[in-house]
Amino acid sequence: MNIININTRESYDCIVGEGLISLVPSLINDLTINSNIALITDDIVDKLYADSLFNDLKKNRKLKTIKLVIKSGEKSKNKETLFNILEFLGDNNFNRSDYLISLGGGVVGDIVGLSSALYMRGINYIQIPTTLLSMVDSAIGGKTGIDLKSGKNLVGAFKEPKMVICDINIIKDLPSSIFKEGMAEVIKCDIIGNLGIKNNILNNEIKDNIESIINKCLYLKKDIVEKDEFETNGLRKVLNLGHTIAHSIEAISNYSISHGNAVGMGLLIESKISYELGIINKETLDEIINILKISNLIFDLKYDIDELISFMKNDKKNNDELISFILIESFGNIKEIKLNEKELKNILNKIMK
Ligand SMILES: NC(=O)c1ccc[n+]([C@@H]2O[C@H](COP(=O)([O-])OP(=O)(O)OC[C@H]3O[C@@H](n4cnc5c(N)ncnc54)[C@H](O)[C@@H]3O)[C@@H](O)[C@H]2O)c1
Repeated sequence: MNIININTRESYDCIVGEGLISLVPSLINDLTINSNIALITDDIVDKLYADSLFNDLKKNRKLKTIKLVIKSGEKSKNKETLFNILEFLGDNNFNRSDYLISLGGGVVGDIVGLSSALYMRGINYIQIPTTLLSMVDSAIGGKTGIDLKSGKNLVGAFKEPKMVICDINIIKDLPSSIFKEGMAEVIKCDIIGNLGIKNNILNNEIKDNIESIINKCLYLKKDIVEKDEFETNGLRKVLNLGHTIAHSIEAISNYSISHGNAVGMGLLIESKISYELGIINKETLDEIINILKISNLIFDLKYDIDELISFMKNDKKNNDELISFILIESFGNIKEIKLNEKELKNILNKIMK
C-alpha cells in the first residue's frame, strides 16, 4: 500500500494498493467515527462494487449509512443530478459533520465533490475512484463541477476530499473500452512529465505495470496542484494539455463522446497544431501518434470547424479573444500558446481535412 500525501490547503492522503475496497470501513474509521455517511455511486458501479461496500459500511458502523444511485454517464453531470443529491442529503438531515463518499468514475467524483462544496456551504467527502481516468486524474486536485449546455465544467468549485482510496484490483477488472479512456489522461501525464510510460505502451506492458503507472501520474498531479492549487500562477494549466479541443468535442457531440476519447483526439489534434506551428519535431509528433494509435484512441472525427471554435471560445480558460492551448515541444516540455480565431481556423482546416 502506498500513501501519497497531497499537501494543499487541506492536506489529505491518497492511498493506492490492491484490494482496498474491502478495507474501506477501517481506512475511513478515524475520519468518520462520529459521522453519518452517504454513499453515492452510479447504476453501473452500484451493481459491481457499491452493494457490498454499502453492506460492509452498515455492518461496521453504528451511525446512519445511506446510498444514492445516479444514472451513469456524462449526461448526468448536470444541475438536476446535483440538486437530487443535495435534496437527498437534506431529506436525511445531514449536517456538516457528516460525510459523502463518491464511488465511481470522474462523473460521480466531480458531482459529489461539487455537492460537498455546496451542501451547508461545505461538508466532507471521500473519493473512491473506479476508473483509470478518475484514479490518475480527477480524484485528486479538488476540482469539482457539472456541465452546462454551453460547455463543460462551467459550474464548479475547488473542494479537496478528505481521503482518496485507489483500489488497483478494480482497474485490473475494467472493461477495455473504459480502460483505454483512462489511457488518454495517462498519455497526457507522460507528455507533461516525461514519465517514461511511452516505453510501457510501446512494449505492450501497461497492464503489468499499472500500479506504478498510476502512482507516477498521481505524483505528477500532486506536484502540480501543490504548486498551483487554484490555477492562479499558470502552472496548473499544463494539465489542460489536449483539453481545449477535447472539451469542444464533448460539447459538440452533446456529450455522447466520452471525456477520455475526446482527450485522446485532443492530444492528437493539439500535437498536430504544435507541429504546424513548428514547436514540435516530426519524430516526436510521430511518436505521440503511435502511442495514441496503440492505445486505440484515434478515431474518425468530422466536425464543423466553426462550431468547434465557437465552443472553444466559451471555455472558461479563455478570458480574452484569443484561444489558449497547451502545446508540446517534447516529452517533459510544454508551453501555453494563444491563437486568434483566424490562425486557428487555418491550422484546423489543414489538420482536419
Ligand atoms: N475534476 C477533475 O480534475 C477532472 C479531471 C479529469 C476528468 N474529469 C471529469 O471526469 C469525467 C470522466 O471520468 P470517467 O472517464 O471516469 O467517466 P465516468 O465516470 O462517466 O465513467 C465512465 C463509465 O465507466 C463506468 N464505470 C465506472 N467504474 C467502472 C468499473 N470499475 N467497471 C466498469 N464500469 C465502470 C461508469 O458507470 C461510466 O459508464 C468527465 O466528466 C471529466 O470532465 C475531472
